[in-house]
Amino acid sequence: MRVLVIGSGAREHALCWAVSRSPRLTKLYCAPGNGGTATVAENVALDPADSSSCADWAAAHAIDLTIIGPENYLAGGIADIFMARGLRVFGPRAAATRIESSKAFAKRLMVAANVPTPRAEIFDGYDEAIQYLDRYEAEGNGYPLIIKADGLAAGKGVVKAENGDEARATLDDFMVRRTLGEAGTTVLIEECITGTELSLFVLCDGQRIYPLAPACDYKRALDNDEGGNTGGMGAYSPPAFATPELLARIEATIVHPVVEALAAQGMPFRGLLYAGLMVSGEGEPQVIEFNARFGDPETQVVLPRLENDLLELCAAVADGALDRVPPPVWSDAAACGVVVASRGYPGEYAKGFPITGLDTLDPDIIAFHAGTAREPDGQLVTTGGRVLTLVALGATVAEARARVYANIERVYFEGARWRSDIGARELR
Ligand code: AMP
Ligand code: GLY
Repeated sequence: MRVLVIGSGAREHALCWAVSRSPRLTKLYCAPGNGGTATVAENVALDPADSSSCADWAAAHAIDLTIIGPENYLAGGIADIFMARGLRVFGPRAAATRIESSKAFAKRLMVAANVPTPRAEIFDGYDEAIQYLDRYEAEGNGYPLIIKADGLAAGKGVVKAENGDEARATLDDFMVRRTLGEAGTTVLIEECITGTELSLFVLCDGQRIYPLAPACDYKRALDNDEGGNTGGMGAYSPPAFATPELLARIEATIVHPVVEALAAQGMPFRGLLYAGLMVSGEGEPQVIEFNARFGDPETQVVLPRLENDLLELCAAVADGALDRVPPPVWSDAAACGVVVASRGYPGEYAKGFPITGLDTLDPDIIAFHAGTAREPDGQLVTTGGRVLTLVALGATVAEARARVYANIERVYFEGARWRSDIGARELR
């Protein structure tokens, strides 16, 4: 099979890495890719935002399967464009991607399907949203409240408002000043819940599902979950609290009802459905968000544990024939991945710094690249906020974690920083 992976993050490097191990693969391309994907695939300088050109290129290069990484292209209809040309694609159509690209759509779907999710009110108008807050407070209700922009906002669309002033300022930002553009014209005002976050990826062919191994992601920039929200600073798999009973319950009460609801509404989901969950101390799972694609950095710790052929699974999803291939099989090894980021991320950061030391890592450490590029002289340099995800496997999360942290200081670029507590909760 000739395969094209679309995207340029560490998630796409991990996808390329896993696909490159498939006996079915004959040629792998990544567009636009990064300094890491170039080691397992041929990078192609396509602009994925121009979906038609990508489809033209895929047709001209006899690509058998295209795997889409990032949500913005899916929301823009890249899968629809590929399908309209008869090209096989892994990733949902724009209509089904709304489970991620519209939090209001997702919330209404969940409520209608009786899926456990925090209570929320949806507002298209600023005045009604403010009136709701006035009423909410007058009735003696308190804070925090979670305010969410409806649309895609690259991690900037969720604010935890600690009081009425913060809530009103957020509504003003999103709905009046339009700081997120169109994404914030509709908002959700949501109940704030507590618990431990869990990411569950599910391969879905429109009706059948194969869940992947569970993982935990760390979204905040600094240790102890302080600092700003990021794309994710590290992850590990499997979390001890994700017991078979909990996973079975999530499948039955969350995944199946949502997959069935999407299919019933004429928008079957074919791709990777990512349930972002909060699990309470009593073990009750609730959905915080859905994504319509692999998560980053969870993919970097889930795929190294997969023992079967990712390419076969992805092709079966694209064909709507998941029943024709065996389910995923997982290694007993645990994985821990730590993101090495540029100083200043998720805010402003400088780039173009030489990266050294990758050749001094222990041979079993995997360095998935995100913001890296190879200069004409061969020097690897930083090009983004998240630069690398270093991943180790071990008999336990604790062992995997110890191996990553024993290696991480060998990687050097100016301003390199990382969280030191990824997977630490598994030590208790
Ligand atoms: P999201 O972009 O929807 O993943 O939200 C970003 C982060 O906000 C999540 O990872 C949670 O930590 C937090 N969050 C979102 N919704 C809620 C909620 N209803 N209650 C508490 N925390 C939330
Ligand atoms: N790890 C969070 C995300 O991919 O959205």
